[in-house]
Amino acid sequence: MDTHEALLNRRSIRKYLKEPVPKALVEKIMTAATWAPSGGNSQPWRFYVTMGAKRDELIQALIEATGPDAPSVEAYDEMAERVGKAVSEGLKQSDPADVSLLKLGKEAAELVRFGSIRFYQAPVAIIVATPKTMGGSSSQSIGAAVQNVLLAAHAEGLATCWLGMPLRYKDEIIEVLGIPEDEVLITSICLGYPDKESSINKMVRARVPYEETVQIFSE
Ligand SMILES: Cc1cc2nc3c(=O)[nH]c(=O)nc-3n(C[C@H](O)[C@H](O)[C@H](O)COP(=O)(O)O)c2cc1C
Repeated sequence: MDTHEALLNRRSIRKYLKEPVPKALVEKIMTAATWAPSGGNSQPWRFYVTMGAKRDELIQALIEATGPDAPSVEAYDEMAERVGKAVSEGLKQSDPADVSLLKLGKEAAELVRFGSIRFYQAPVAIIVATPKTMGGSSSQSIGAAVQNVLLAAHAEGLATCWLGMPLRYKDEIIEVLGIPEDEVLITSICLGYPDKESSINKMVRARVPYEETVQIFSE
């Protein structure tokens, strides 16, 4: 895949197939992550990649931490289906460039909230941490490593969503994964095969006009 094409076509995916991701492929993607640039080559990232039973345990702990209004795994599937249909209707009735999940109302906002904390039920859930001793530039380096995960996955026909929301429940994550006390959690990512039929995954993405965020001084 051409790099520029990959950069422009990657998108956050919020509904996944149940098909597991082969471990060798996960290792290839995580190897790409470790080749990101980092301040002073400090490589401040620590990735905790969960699949199978550990992933299930992690998601269950986060569902419980969310509280009694969090839907079960089955109820969430049903909710995702229903909100997906509403998104389809929204797409038909609105200017496609103006449709976003959060503009589609309370249920869509709940789908993002409940979906994020369960890694959108993707088969791979990744937690990113860093040693507490790492210096001030480490968040920049970790951002580069996370973007490598997103792009390497995309190049393999896989999909991802960068997720901040699961970090609301740091204690649960630390306990399930046995993350050492000298590390701090930074962010998380879900990874899997995209459900290409899902309306949520087809929503038009927008960016503010280029001129508002980029200035080129060429003289
Ligand atoms: C730091 C960060 C945190 C994010 N957290 C979430 C999240 O918790 N849930 C979610 O659905 N998307 C999350 N996203 C994805 C953004 O919503 C998404 O990147 C943005 O809407 C642009 O869409 P695109 O990735 O499809 O280009 C996060 C992205 C970043 C960079």
